[in-house]
Amino acid sequence: MTRLPKGAIRPRPAVVAMAPYHPPTAGRAGKLRLDFNENTVGCSPRVIEALTRQVNAADLAVYPEYGDARAAVARHFQVTPEHFVFTNGTDEAIQVFVNTYVDDGQEVIVLRPAYAMYRFYAEVAGAKIVDIPYPQPELEFPLQAVLDAITPETRAILISNPNNPTGTGISLNAIERILSRAKKAAVLIDEAYYEFSGVTALGEIDRVPNLFVSRTFSKVFGMAGLRLGCLFSHPANIEYLHKAQSPYSVNSLAVLAARAAVEDTDYIRNYVTEVLAAREMLCVGLEQLGITYVPSSANFVLGRFGNRAIEVRDRLRDQAILVRDRSYEAAGCVRITVGTREQTRRLLAALEEIWNS
Ligand SMILES: Cc1ncc(COP(=O)(O)O)c(C=O)c1O
Repeated sequence: MTRLPKGAIRPRPAVVAMAPYHPPTAGRAGKLRLDFNENTVGCSPRVIEALTRQVNAADLAVYPEYGDARAAVARHFQVTPEHFVFTNGTDEAIQVFVNTYVDDGQEVIVLRPAYAMYRFYAEVAGAKIVDIPYPQPELEFPLQAVLDAITPETRAILISNPNNPTGTGISLNAIERILSRAKKAAVLIDEAYYEFSGVTALGEIDRVPNLFVSRTFSKVFGMAGLRLGCLFSHPANIEYLHKAQSPYSVNSLAVLAARAAVEDTDYIRNYVTEVLAAREMLCVGLEQLGITYVPSSANFVLGRFGNRAIEVRDRLRDQAILVRDRSYEAAGCVRITVGTREQTRRLLAALEEIWNS
């Protein structure tokens, strides 16, 4: 960190103590982007049409209105508009969730490795973080360890299902066990990759008062650049989440795009079918190369490359194929996003050449 100039105000101790988080998002254009679990072919053409044809200067001059988009998105997720808040990506959902429920010094359970923003926002809040490791090498969800870690002091639990970067998922039954053990804690189930796994807790939000579920438009919907997510819960909880959120954190273009996106369910269904076929192809290809991997319920696969992880990442990058090294949190592992079968063929051809040299 740059030394603070004389007279500068020192940030809160929680912020000073945090490790900076800078994902490698620069210089990705024009490459085969298998590094961020995005949709690798882009959003529905209907989204582009809405953004290019339905936007005028007068619309952009006014603060966003969410009513029509809320109704369309609620229909898509089979809830009422009172069951969710729009958020600026899942990242803001996590932030609003933490801001609403966690005070300085309170206990928050997160897993490791998991999506980095859980720890990030818990750290900003000054929470006491209780870390549960995924057991190596299987990286299966450590249900018993999570249950054992829950105490009356537990204020919040953040879980992604399926998990990033492991790709492993948990059953609804396991989630139920966590929710009933953690009755005094707010539990967030982040379902960013739901469309690829088919397991969701969304149907439980009316029945289980400590349950929160998030979804995103960044992954299967192909709208990561627009930054839109939804945070669902019982309507009484949603009123408090609204209070803790800035009123216009989601922009007009994002909600306009969302309305078009949820109307094109065929596009989503076809993309999921393609990804699941490509995931199978990737797993078979890795097996043929003698590379083991963690069985995945998401649109990415964590491969075990041992001490060649960094070399594989760098040599793929030399061929304009981006994958994400995760060896700093899962030894020897590289995470590969799954796109189309054609893209997977290109990846496997490059990987074969690297691996056998
Ligand atoms: C589990 C999980 N949740 C959330 C996100 C980010 O979602 P958003 O783009 O909606 O902030 C990611 C992105 O990688 C993720 O892996």
